[in-house]
Amino acid sequence: MMKIYLNGEFMPLEEARVPVLDRGFLFGDGVYEVIPVYGGHPFRLIQHLDRLERSLRETRIPLEYSLDDWMAIFQPLIDSCESKDCGIYLQVTRGVAIRDHAFPKAVEPTVFAMINPIKPVPAKVLENGVHAIAREDIRWSRCDIKSISLIGNVLMRQEAVESDAAETILIRDGMVTEGSASNVFIVKSSEVITPPKDEHLLGGITRDLVLELCVTHGLAVREAPIREQMLRAADEVWVTSSTKEILPVTVLDGQLVGEGKPGPVWHTLVELYGRCKQALRQGEQAC
Ligand code: PDD
Repeated sequence: MMKIYLNGEFMPLEEARVPVLDRGFLFGDGVYEVIPVYGGHPFRLIQHLDRLERSLRETRIPLEYSLDDWMAIFQPLIDSCESKDCGIYLQVTRGVAIRDHAFPKAVEPTVFAMINPIKPVPAKVLENGVHAIAREDIRWSRCDIKSISLIGNVLMRQEAVESDAAETILIRDGMVTEGSASNVFIVKSSEVITPPKDEHLLGGITRDLVLELCVTHGLAVREAPIREQMLRAADEVWVTSSTKEILPVTVLDGQLVGEGKPGPVWHTLVELYGRCKQALRQGEQAC
């Protein structure tokens, strides 16, 4: 039976209960992280915890846990995950209180964590790439916070599903922001480009690693705004996230991206990313 962590206790998933007055349930008043685990080792753990700390600070949820506190929660979950690759889901809400929009006083945040297997992306998908659609970004103006209020993302992702596509790429005022649950990269004339971080997109941990890998391996790379026309004229388009890693988009709104196959720069990055994962599996902190 799958074990989860909730407010200081480990228990079977089936036994976990959250009061209906939890502000996560009533207001979507909380933040979260998804941390991949390869060979029993969390990937880019410090970066994920730094981003969590930032989300907590920006939403003014008072929680100060050390790395050791978090690892005391994660390790039993990691030990219980039977799959080769797993993902920790971690959520903190403002806590339980009588419903009122303003912050309650003296309330303990709710802390919840679980672990799930990460299914490897099927070889066929990596060979052919995936379809994506592009739509107007309908979300709020603080997409830099990893908030559990995800109704906009949910609606945008559902549009992809209903269009037989894997992801929806979001466009705000004619510029690419990100995917419904991923960051976006394009390649044009061998140069890798991704939009700069601002309040309209989440600073993805995978995004940052891809940028680092480009720099350390001498690939041309730039953080720059991407106009919708640039997206549609790109040689390669990728979406990145902790669970999808680096996924090549080969058809966008029914049109081929470049030659309609995962491109050479994507191949290079996937190889480099794979080396990072492999090193971590062997207990090295290579990336
Ligand atoms: N989401 N942008 C959005 C809106 C996301 O939801 C995600 C990831 C990313 C990529 O971030 P990272 O590389 O740190 O995973 C960008 C996770 C995986 C999710 O909601 O399940």
